[in-house]
Amino acid sequence: MTFGKQYDEYLSFFEGELKRFCAEMDYRPPVLCESMRYSLLSGGKRVRPVLFFGALAHFGGDYTKEAGLAIALECIHTYSLIHDDLPAMDNDDFRRGNPSNHRVFGEANAILAGDALLSEGMCLLLKEGKKSERHLRAAQYLADAAGAKGMIAGQSADLLYTGKTGGEEELGFIYAHKTGKLITAPIVMAAILCGGDEEKAEKFGEALGTLFQLTDDILDVKGESAKMGKTLGKDREEDKLTCVKVYGMERAELLADRTAANCHAHLRALGGDGFLASLVDLVRTRDN
Ligand code: IPE
Ligand code: IPE
Ligand code: MG
Ligand code: MG
Ligand code: MG
Repeated sequence: MTFGKQYDEYLSFFEGELKRFCAEMDYRPPVLCESMRYSLLSGGKRVRPVLFFGALAHFGGDYTKEAGLAIALECIHTYSLIHDDLPAMDNDDFRRGNPSNHRVFGEANAILAGDALLSEGMCLLLKEGKKSERHLRAAQYLADAAGAKGMIAGQSADLLYTGKTGGEEELGFIYAHKTGKLITAPIVMAAILCGGDEEKAEKFGEALGTLFQLTDDILDVKGESAKMGKTLGKDREEDKLTCVKVYGMERAELLADRTAANCHAHLRALGGDGFLASLVDLVRTRDN
């Protein structure tokens, strides 16, 4: 099967499961469900769930059995985006090609939609964790990746270095946490569930997370807003510590090439994989 067809297969399975999950939400007051659904269903590349499914397939697992963990991942990622866009953080009016959650539902409701998505994600992790010892370990890995030693640490450092000078070390910490943790998690979770090499999976994930944020920073300068679905040029406006600020565009592009090569090397150490290798190339060359 071609890479594109396989991606679409994972994507349509995931979208179906996510729609069902959203349809079953019936919390009061209705505005809470509406705002949660708005952000969950308003597009998004679904890179993390697709990566999770691709990694499960790589390690010999059955991805159709792990929709719960995939939805938990996307709930936690989506909450991070809602809060990331708030005026107190990046102050972004567009996300996934639509007005940001707070532009539609107001800031207070957006904060609550994010809180609720994080909590729903954690509830799913507890539920899935009951299936087996391996599921419990995978769920624990994602909970750690989301929290104070994971994605949130990166968001905190991102804010700390906004408007300040910083170099390779500070940028590395931001990348490894705000983006790297939720990109590494699906790969390591798949390894845990299938008895794969967790250490090698983590190395691959960390390299891919770095590549993902390198290209996000590059596309904030060079991308097309319509394709990216968000306002661009914001990093410079807010004086964010990005690879473009630290290295300049030319060296940032070279670093992205080198990091993509590093991803491929780590993937080879994992036994190679056609789908995951194409996913690395997609992350390097993406325009959305
Ligand atoms: C955006 O993530 C936030 C970053 C970590 C750079 P994505 O680029 O995966 O956003 P969606 O889910 O496709 O909207
Ligand atoms: C966001 O990084 C990372 C998280 C949401 C955890 P960015 O702030 O660069 O992401 P975009 O550019 O708004 O999507
Ligand atoms: Mg941000
Ligand atoms: Mg942002
Ligand atoms: Mg960005």
